Parts: sequence; C-alpha cells; structure tokens
Amino acid sequence: MSRDDLRIDGQRLWNRIVALGEVGAITGPNGELGCARLALTDADREGRDLVVGWMRDLGLQVSIDAIGNVVATRAGTDPTAAAVMTGSHIDTVATGGRFDGNLGVLAGLEVIETLEQHGIATRRPISVAFFTDEEGARFAPDMLGSLVYVGGMAVEEALDVRAADDGARLGDELDRIGYVGPTPCPTAAAPAAYVELHIEQGPILEDEGVTIGVVEGVQGISWTELTIDGRSAHAGTTPMRLRRDPLYVAAEITTFVRRLTAEVGGNQVATVGRLDVRPNLVNVVPSTVTMNVDLRNTDESALQEAERRLADEVARLEAAEQVTIGRRSLARFEPVQFDPATVDLVEETARRLGHTTRRLPSGAGHDAQMLARVCPTAMIFTPSVNGLSHNIAEYTDPADVTAGANVLLQTVLRLSE
Ligand code: GLV
Ligand code: MN
Ligand code: MN
Repeated sequence: MSRDDLRIDGQRLWNRIVALGEVGAITGPNGELGCARLALTDADREGRDLVVGWMRDLGLQVSIDAIGNVVATRAGTDPTAAAVMTGSHIDTVATGGRFDGNLGVLAGLEVIETLEQHGIATRRPISVAFFTDEEGARFAPDMLGSLVYVGGMAVEEALDVRAADDGARLGDELDRIGYVGPTPCPTAAAPAAYVELHIEQGPILEDEGVTIGVVEGVQGISWTELTIDGRSAHAGTTPMRLRRDPLYVAAEITTFVRRLTAEVGGNQVATVGRLDVRPNLVNVVPSTVTMNVDLRNTDESALQEAERRLADEVARLEAAEQVTIGRRSLARFEPVQFDPATVDLVEETARRLGHTTRRLPSGAGHDAQMLARVCPTAMIFTPSVNGLSHNIAEYTDPADVTAGANVLLQTVLRLSE
C-alpha cells in the first residue's frame, strides 16, 4: 500500500476514547457520558497509567519529565533527526467530556499503531505527548505543562502553584500520583514540528457543515483573580448606606464584562466562571468574594483595551463600595499565529482526503500555542455537536473523529519524511 493510501482504524481509536472516558466517568441527567479528571487527582493518575500502558504496549520509548509531561517516541530511520510531535492533554475540567484533549493523544497513538501495523518506517522519529494540566481549572495557568516544556515558566515556579480547589501544591500532587519523572524540563530537544488534533469546542464547523477545521492560531487569554474584601453584616439591620458588600461588587463586575464584549472590538469574549462567597449564608452580607474573570480576544490591542476597562471599573467599584480588591493575574497569553507552511499542509492534506475545510482561529487555549514558540506548529479541528465543550454533553461523531485522525496521520507522515 502506498503511504498516501494509509488510513487509521477508526473503531480502534473510538474504543480507546471510550475506555479512557471510563476513567473518572460522570453521567448527565439525559445519560450523557462525561469526564471528571482534574489535573493531578487520583483520576488523572488512573488515566495516565492507562495511556502509558498503551504507549508501552506499542513498544514506544516513554519519557516522563520533571513537570509530569509524558512523551512516547517511535524511532525513525535517521538517528540524527528531530522528532515530529503530536499530542494534547488528558486532564479535563470537572464537568468535561471525553474528547477535549483526549482525542489528540489517542489519535496520536492510533497514528503510530497504524504505522506499526503496516510496517511503515519514517525518517524522523514520531512522538506522542500528553502535557500536564492543560485545563488550568485546578492549577492556573492553563497549558502549564507545555508552557514549562518550552521554557516559558521555570519548573520550580510551576511546582509551587497552588490548587484552586484544595490549596494543594502542584509539586506535591505530582509526586503523590507518581509522575515526577527524570527527564529535564524544559526539553533539550525541540521537535521538528508539532501538529495537534482537537475538537473545535465551538459551533462554526457544525453550523457550516464542514468536516475539518484548519486552525490558523489561538486567541489571547487573560485570567484575573479578584479577591473582594468587604464587611460582613446583618442582612436585616444594616442600612443600605452602611454596606460594604463584596457580592454586590462581584455582580457589578460580572455584568460589566458582559457589556464590555459588545463595546470592545474584535471578537471579545468574557466570562466569570468562578465565584467563591464567604460566608455564603442567607442572612449575612458577605465578607469576602473571590472571583475569576476570563477575557479573550484574537486581537492583542483589543484584549489590552478590555483589560484596561476592567481595571478602571474595578477601581471605581472599590472606591464606591468601600471594599478592598486584590488583583492577581492567573494567566496571560498573547494571541498566537501558527506556522503558515504547516497550516497549508494541513489544509492540502484534508482536501486531498476529500474533506471540506475551513480556516478558523481557536477560541480555546491549547498546548499547540506553547509548542509554537519552539517549532513549526499547526492544529486540526473536528466538529463539536451543538458546539458544546466543557460540558458533559460534549460529543464528536465517530466519522468526524476518523476523518480528523486520518488528516493527522497523513500530515505527520509528510512531516516525518
Ligand atoms: C483551556 O483549555 C481553555 O481554553 O480554557
Ligand atoms: Mn483541550
Ligand atoms: Mn478544555
């Protein structure tokens, strides 16, 4: 069989998606099958062990680095050539699906199994990675493992990050689940190229009836934690003029960022996804609210404008309500453009395989945006049913999973010549 005719085994890939999805499985009210594998929890360990087992079964050389990133490599015929890398992440948000991240890792393994099965050698090695804590839902920032991998954050700093849920130290949790590896991080061996398959997580491909998204880049991300300290007081006896209510301020900020999206140019989006109210009682004016604001835009200057306006509004509310507001940046990444030649290659490959394509930016953050700092990088998107992700109902049709994995296979084959 010619290399151009080589295709992955869609059923084998789907079976692995289902099997990994059983680790940390959660079920929705309508029988939806989702996943809760927050980074460095017991469920994450169990998922890691399963995938590492598959990597070893395929005879790959598995390396685990100081931040717990796992890279499995199939040798090439040229001992001096840098590897072509693919992969993604297998951690999920607490109310996640079975496809976000997992698809890219398992499709990478399927690419390798296909090459093994057909006895295809490549000049470059091919590696499949899963990076620690892509989601950032437990340990901010998101894409933490790949950020450290490319030298964007010192490993010591990353190991000291504290969990949003229980305050645990990242390094302690990594040690607890047995994934502090001997390989130094940042990596000493930048890949020759990185291509990541991922679900779109939005509505565009499905709306337009397109099978393959050709991702041109990733929008900028700005996460801020605000800690609003007011004064706890009696709900019945405290006149409105005497209140210093941090929840009122949080509510004002929440509606302000929604208005902001209409006022700032580009495709500004804004989310308040986390609110922690103390003491959270019916008849007590709260004392403290901790909240997270997530701002994103494909345009860096527009994103900066949104950040400025948010900062002004926070300062105005602080004075008006006589609260004190602590500000902490949890994540800040500028928009990233992928390598034009690699993006073209993805597009040509998808069309050669007979798929409809569309170029689009990614709304979500991805490990690929970090790898783009050290090597030519691109991404392949497959449609998400109803545009849903970070939702238990996240789903991608098996035919689309197969299509995406075949585009990945043929792209990786070309890059590894
Ligand atoms: C992380 O993947 C994000 O986009 O929030
Ligand atoms: Mn993801
Ligand atoms: Mn995600």
